[in-house]
Amino acid sequence: MSTLSKNRGWVLPVMYNYQGFWHSISHLQGVLSFQKHFPAQDTDIFVVTAPKSGTTWLKAISFAILNRTSYPITSGDHPLLKTNSHELVPFVEDIYADNPNPDFSSMPPPRLFATHVSHVSLPESVHVSKCKIVYMCRNPKDLFVSAFHFTNKLRLEHMGVNSIEEMFDLFCKGVSLYGPYWDQVLGYWNESLQRPKQVLFLKYEEMKEHPGTELRKLAEFYGCPITPKEEEEGIVDAILRLCSFETLSNLEVNKNGTLTTGLSNQAYFRRGEIGDWKNHLTAEMVEQLDMITEDKFHGSGLTF
Ligand code: A3P
Repeated sequence: MSTLSKNRGWVLPVMYNYQGFWHSISHLQGVLSFQKHFPAQDTDIFVVTAPKSGTTWLKAISFAILNRTSYPITSGDHPLLKTNSHELVPFVEDIYADNPNPDFSSMPPPRLFATHVSHVSLPESVHVSKCKIVYMCRNPKDLFVSAFHFTNKLRLEHMGVNSIEEMFDLFCKGVSLYGPYWDQVLGYWNESLQRPKQVLFLKYEEMKEHPGTELRKLAEFYGCPITPKEEEEGIVDAILRLCSFETLSNLEVNKNGTLTTGLSNQAYFRRGEIGDWKNHLTAEMVEQLDMITEDKFHGSGLTF
């Protein structure tokens, strides 16, 4: 395990490389425990992302789809109207960071978990099970800009601002939480090609451009497709409205609430758009990032 100290490019000052991926010490403890102890069930569902890929959104949509019988979408007291989706669908490595022996027995199947862990570091029990994984990736330029803002929002409260150049340099070298970004994406992309029934690969950009199509695909993959009756009732639009940036970011819980980790819910909602990188990256940065992405994804069939 190698260490990168004096890393001023991310929220925490020291990161560790484990199985080829960078982790903060607090995340790493949870990752190791999750990897070693998690007892997967065939009915489990994981939503997986690199940070700032739209995890908050994917968690909300997945929660809404899977629980639509218990929690009717248009009900005025839907959990998503009162609770941030990171509380409803916690990161499993965070659960293990707090408690190396968590009790999941009260969770009815299908259990919905989230993780940022790379494919190679998933627990063996997940690898050998039939559980389902949805991986959502995002264009690295927008992901980087989102991460830059998120990091600085947090650091402003604690210790000052990072320069975009400094953080960009680290990102390009692969040093980002749960990065290298490209390696994480490729791990799940390749798995989705080999095990399409187990791993569904989505893109933030496609979710933005064709949300209804992607939502139906998700429901089908989860084993609870949208029925003709639900189509007639307009459930797809209702879920998309409930989980939209506009709805979620304007909720009281997301404007003023905090997660149990102490992070403000509001930090998870910034612009929610495609292409904000144009407002932040220089032509040189764009060229460099595009070249790395082309090189890393060359021959994989994955494009942006
Ligand atoms: P921006 O910083 O580009 O606005 P994550 O949830 O993985 O931390 O990613 C956060 C990014 O997703 C932020 O991107 C945030 O604004 C965006 N986001 C959050 N909720 C969203 C939603 N309901 N729809 C679309 N994008 C959303």
